[in-house]
Amino acid sequence: MPKYKSFLNFAREFVKSPRHTGAICPSSVSLARQMAAMVPPGTGKVIELGPGNGPMTRALLQQGIAIQDLILVERTQSFAKHLTQRFPGVEIIHGDACALGSLLGPLVKDEPIRAIVSSLPFRSMPRDVVQQISQEIIAVSQPGTRFIQFTYHLHDSRPPFPGPFSSSEWHIVWQNLPPARVGAFDWKP
Ligand SMILES: C[S@@+](CC[C@H](N)C(=O)[O-])C[C@H]1O[C@@H](n2cnc3c(N)ncnc32)[C@H](O)[C@@H]1O
Repeated sequence: MPKYKSFLNFAREFVKSPRHTGAICPSSVSLARQMAAMVPPGTGKVIELGPGNGPMTRALLQQGIAIQDLILVERTQSFAKHLTQRFPGVEIIHGDACALGSLLGPLVKDEPIRAIVSSLPFRSMPRDVVQQISQEIIAVSQPGTRFIQFTYHLHDSRPPFPGPFSSSEWHIVWQNLPPARVGAFDWKP
């Protein structure tokens, strides 16, 4: 899909569902690279939540995350369809992160989850949805899992939900519309 069409599709989804799309345009290459750079090296699955048109996915693959380690979970059908065409070979689940555990099911088996890279717009989503997703994230994670999330609230150092994850590092990315803060939260063993 040409870039302008991908932007138009994103803006259309924003108009249809602003609280779940959470942004009017896709994230920049700089923001995507920063998110990907915070994935710890090693083994284990990397789960991307809310990949949209795929800027983070591209950066994760460029960062060297093996294709077989990457699993995407996207709720919006047009994005999931676009991702399937753009990233052949990557496991793409068209589904809601509210059911993360059952969606991942046999795909993760006993393998640890190295990182969860999330673009979910927690601040604009309904509170009960945030609560459900956070419970699912905690349930599929284990000590050692890193949770990576960006926010447009540049001064907010808190994890987006209460639980075992605590802040380990953060960076401000100015080259994004609007500028964003990327946080890495570790479940320390
Ligand atoms: C702010 S956009 C980010 C898109 C892309 N990662 C980027 O950075 O440009 C949020 C994405 O989360 C997806 N999303 C929202 N709620 C979701 C849910 N409950 N489960 C899975 N994906 C969801 C939206 O469809 C959208 O693609």
